[in-house]
Amino acid sequence: ELEGNMWLPYYSAVAEARAVLESELDGIRSAGTWKSERIITSRQGPRINVDGSSSSGILNFCANNYLGLSSHPEVVQAGIDALKTHGAGLSSVRFICGTQDLHKNLEQKLAQFHEREDCILYASCFDANAGLFEVLLGPEDAVLSDELNHASIIDGIRLCRAKRLRYKHMDLENLETKLKESQSSRMRLVVTDGVFSMDGDVAPLSQICDLAEQYGAMVFVDECHATGFLGPRGRGTDELLGVMDRVDIINSTLGKALGGAAGGYTVGPKPLIDLLRQRSRPYLFSNSLPPPVVGCATRAVELLLASNEISQSMVAKTMRFRNKMTQAGFTISGLAHPICPVMLGDARLASMMSDDMLKLGVYVIGFSFPVVPKGKARIRVQISAAHTDEDIDHCVDAFIQTGRKHGVVS
Ligand SMILES: *Cc1c(COP(=O)(O)O)cnc(C)c1O
Ligand SMILES: *[C@@H]1O[C@H](CO)[C@@H](O)[C@H](O)[C@H]1NC(C)=O
Repeated sequence: ELEGNMWLPYYSAVAEARAVLESELDGIRSAGTWKSERIITSRQGPRINVDGSSSSGILNFCANNYLGLSSHPEVVQAGIDALKTHGAGLSSVRFICGTQDLHKNLEQKLAQFHEREDCILYASCFDANAGLFEVLLGPEDAVLSDELNHASIIDGIRLCRAKRLRYKHMDLENLETKLKESQSSRMRLVVTDGVFSMDGDVAPLSQICDLAEQYGAMVFVDECHATGFLGPRGRGTDELLGVMDRVDIINSTLGKALGGAAGGYTVGPKPLIDLLRQRSRPYLFSNSLPPPVVGCATRAVELLLASNEISQSMVAKTMRFRNKMTQAGFTISGLAHPICPVMLGDARLASMMSDDMLKLGVYVIGFSFPVVPKGKARIRVQISAAHTDEDIDHCVDAFIQTGRKHGVVS
């Protein structure tokens, strides 16, 4: 009896919290921004099984699996091998007893891939971004960032004490104004995504580097949607635009093109990486990456260091999709990136068309406000090297069929 009464205040506090949370959830539902998750019952790949789909699977055009390495047999095998030789996990952070030869080897390979001095691994690129600014920049410094940068960069910048200036999306004139405004700062860092994930547009890195040089600032690029496939050897936006020696710091992810498991990293000057190992909070206080994850990513990087065949195959499929869709009358944003946003404008149209595409066996997602600006709703298609030409053609045909139905193309 007494014991039951002792718990009463606890239960009523939970009941109160429950009511607050439920009303918050209702708000999300009524705003139409509820995100539901489809359950996949197969590996990630060009064809996936989702609950309710036929056994032959549906064509998947919405993963960041640009090179098809998420289920590549050699990548999977490397994960199994690492699991057997190095175990499931470290039960430790890196600096206590969580650093294996596997981690050092992957860091060395990633530095080599990006042609930078050193590399530090994180549990995610989100963490990499959260760790960097706070260590690098103090109150006497300034960070100048593109207004459309990824959430992890925005959060990372919030955590640091530097002066914050936001410049208009890819607007060089506005960036120059902010560089002039911040001339009294000790160090300045210009921060941009290499590729912006909603539009597939590429930051004007060459001109950004020119401005940074002129005003004595450093350049940081988040390469999550570029590493592994942009540029002649897939090294990223900096290779594509010929500025590999002018971009100072890069953050990227293992969770997209590089096998898609998990993990993020920073590459850059050795003293910066050394300091991050000493001071970066997400690195110091979060567990080491699990050996199977490290094994998979290492094999993915090795495949890309050995040959650019996979990334070139993705380029050919991207151009096939973009050309056929443009010929059919659709507007595709961006120029040559495997993120191919099919611009539709109206949010309801984007949502109805993606539902109809699914009925034709093609899984694509509509994006609308607040993820993209009002009136700029779209279906974002992502091409993978693992798609066959027939997969691409099937997707285009489904777009033409549903586009005609809804009066988007004739
Ligand atoms: C996906 C993404 C991240 C987050 O990467 P994770 O490794 O999944 O945390 C960070 N920045 C950008 C630009 C991204 O697209
Ligand atoms: C890059 O990653 C580092 C740590 O990995 C993080 O501290 C930093 O904030 C990140 N930088 C940006 C600009 O995202």
